[in-house]
Amino acid sequence: MKTTTEIWRQLVSWVVISTTLFLVVVMPTSSMLHASAKECSFPAIFNFGDSNSDTGGLSALFGQAPSPNGITFFLSPAGRFSDGRLIIDFIANRLGLPYLSAYLDSMGSNFSHGANFATAGSTIISPNSTKSHRLSPISLNVQSKEFSDFKLRSELIRKRGGVFESLFPKNIYFSEALYTYDIGQNDLTYAYKLNMTTEQVKVYIHEAVSKFSDAIWNAYREGGRSFWIHNTGPLGCLPYMLDGFPELAAQADMFGCSKPLNEMSQYYNLKLKETITRMRKEMPKATFIYVDMYKVKYTLITHAHEYGFEQGIIACCGNGGKYNFNDAARCGATKLVDGKKVIIANSCKYPNVRIIWDGIHYTEAANHWFFKQIVNGSFSDPPIPLNMACNSHPIHH
Ligand SMILES: *[C@@H]1O[C@H](CO)[C@@H](O)[C@H](O)[C@H]1NC(C)=O
Ligand SMILES: *[C@@H]1O[C@H](CO)[C@@H](O)[C@H](O)[C@H]1NC(C)=O
Ligand SMILES: *[C@@H]1O[C@H](CO)[C@@H](O)[C@H](O)[C@H]1NC(C)=O
Ligand SMILES: *[C@@H]1O[C@H](CO)[C@@H](O)[C@H](O)[C@H]1NC(C)=O
Repeated sequence: MKTTTEIWRQLVSWVVISTTLFLVVVMPTSSMLHASAKECSFPAIFNFGDSNSDTGGLSALFGQAPSPNGITFFLSPAGRFSDGRLIIDFIANRLGLPYLSAYLDSMGSNFSHGANFATAGSTIISPNSTKSHRLSPISLNVQSKEFSDFKLRSELIRKRGGVFESLFPKNIYFSEALYTYDIGQNDLTYAYKLNMTTEQVKVYIHEAVSKFSDAIWNAYREGGRSFWIHNTGPLGCLPYMLDGFPELAAQADMFGCSKPLNEMSQYYNLKLKETITRMRKEMPKATFIYVDMYKVKYTLITHAHEYGFEQGIIACCGNGGKYNFNDAARCGATKLVDGKKVIIANSCKYPNVRIIWDGIHYTEAANHWFFKQIVNGSFSDPPIPLNMACNSHPIHH
C-alpha cells in the first residue's frame, strides 16, 4: 500500500512531467503564439533600407525615377523603382496607414504616420565611392542620423501648432511604431564590383551585419520596440548581376540563377539571423521579426507558372540582351530622335504577369504576391503575423 506522501510525490512528478511536455510540445506552435498574442495598433512606420523600399528618397536627391516606372499603379514614377507599389506600400496599407513619405522629400510630404529613410542604392557600410558604382550616399548610418534628428525636431516643430501638428508624429508614436528594414543587397553587389574574393566578401558581410546592429540599437535607444526585418533576396536570380558577372552566371542552378551569388545571399541572411538572435537577448523589451524574403522571392522566381507568372528571371522593362537588361540602357533610358526624347528601354506588355521589373527590382504584381505570403507570418521567425508584430516572443517570457 502506498503512503499519502508517495501518492503526492507521484502526483507532483506527473504534473511536472506533463507541464514540461506541454511547454515543449504545444507552446511553440504558431497557433499558440497567436492565441497568447494581442493585435497591435501601430500608429506609424519608420522604414530604413534601399530601393526595395524607397518611396521617393533617391528621386528627391538626384532627380525622379524615369517613366515607365509607376505605369501600373501611380500612373507616374512616384519615386519608386517599380511599375507600381512596393512591399512597404502594402504593409502601410494593411496597417491602415498612408503610404510613407520619404524623409528627404521636402515637397508635399506628410510624416504624421511615419517616415521613410530608405534610398535606392543605399548600403549598410558607407561606400568609399558612390557615383562610379551607382550607390547612394545615404547609407544606413546616415539613415540612423536622419532618424534621430527627425525625432528630435518632430517634437519641436509640432509645438508650433497649426498645420505642423498634423504633419509630424506624436512623441508616443516613436515607441509604438513598427520599425521596418530591408537592406544589404547593395553591400553584396558592391563587394562583387570591387572584385573581392569569396572569403573577402564574407568578412565584408560580418562588418555589414555588425553595422546593421548599430542601426537597430540607435532606433531602440530612441524608443523603438517593434522591429520587422526582411532578409536579402536571391541576388543570383537578378538580371543586373547575371549580366554583370557572366562567370558567376555560368554557375547556374536549374532555374538559371547563379549558385555562388545565391549562396552569398544566404550567407548574409545566416549572419543577419544570428545577429538578430543576439539582439533579442541584448534588447529583451523589443520584438524582432525576421522575415525570410529570400525564400519567398526564390519560390516565385523558380515556380513562376505555378503562381500565374511568366519568365522567371527575365526583366520586363529593358532594352534586349539575354535577360532583357542592358546596363547602358536601363529601364526608362531615352535617346533623342528629331530633338524629342524617346524611351528606348520600355515596359513589356503585361507587367502584371511578370516578376522582375527592370533587372534589379520587382514588379508590383510580384511585390503584392510577396506581401500576401509574408503578412500572416508564415515566413517569419517567430511566426507572428504583421498585425501582431508588437508582441515579444512568448517563449522568451
Ligand atoms: C575604403 O577606404 C578605406 C580607407 O582608405 C579602406 O581602409 C577600406 O578598405 C576601403 N573599403 C573598401 C570596401 O574598399
Ligand atoms: C497629414 O496626414 C494626416 C493623416 O492622413 C491628416 O490627418 C492630416 O490632415 C495631413 N496633414 C496635412 C497638412 O495635410
Ligand atoms: C575588377 O575586375 C575587372 C575585370 O578584371 C576590372 O575591369 C575592374 O576594373 C576591377 N574593379 C576594381 C574596382 O578593381
Ligand atoms: C499564409 O498565406 C499564404 C498566402 O495566402 C497561404 O498560402 C498560407 O497557407 C498561409 N499560412 C498560414 C499559416 O496561414
